[in-house]
Amino acid sequence: MALYSEKVMDHFTNPRNVGKIDDADGVGTVGNAKCGDIMKIYLKIENDIIVDVKFNTFGCGSAIASSSMATELIKGKPLADALTLTNKAVAEALDGLPAHKLHCSVLAEEAIRAAIKDYYDRNGIEYDKTKFPDPSDEDEHHFEED
Ligand code: FES
Repeated sequence: MALYSEKVMDHFTNPRNVGKIDDADGVGTVGNAKCGDIMKIYLKIENDIIVDVKFNTFGCGSAIASSSMATELIKGKPLADALTLTNKAVAEALDGLPAHKLHCSVLAEEAIRAAIKDYYDRNGIEYDKTKFPDPSDEDEHHFEED
């Protein structure tokens, strides 16, 4: 059996929504301390709907495929839906990732949350702080594998 699904290979070789949104309403950057990979997500938000999303990922193939799939999953969706997106859902949408690569999909979940948090902070919108990473970690959130 191939190590990576066809969907992973497709999103890695032909990633969707790559780039930057200059007038983004929220930007989230996260990094994985172990591998050094970095993911940045840009959101354009209107009336609580994610009308556009772009990403830049300096990282492994699984991180790029996860970013691409995650952006597809949240585009056009309400913020509340994007906040419930888990790395598991991203990995499932890719028809699975090898166990030792699951942490790569966590970067996508974390980057989206960080971008939404940035949007809330910029606009003075109240949110449950326990559901978001520590602000002092905002630009360098370290994910630890369990
Ligand atoms: Fe670093 Fe995949 S190995 S995110």
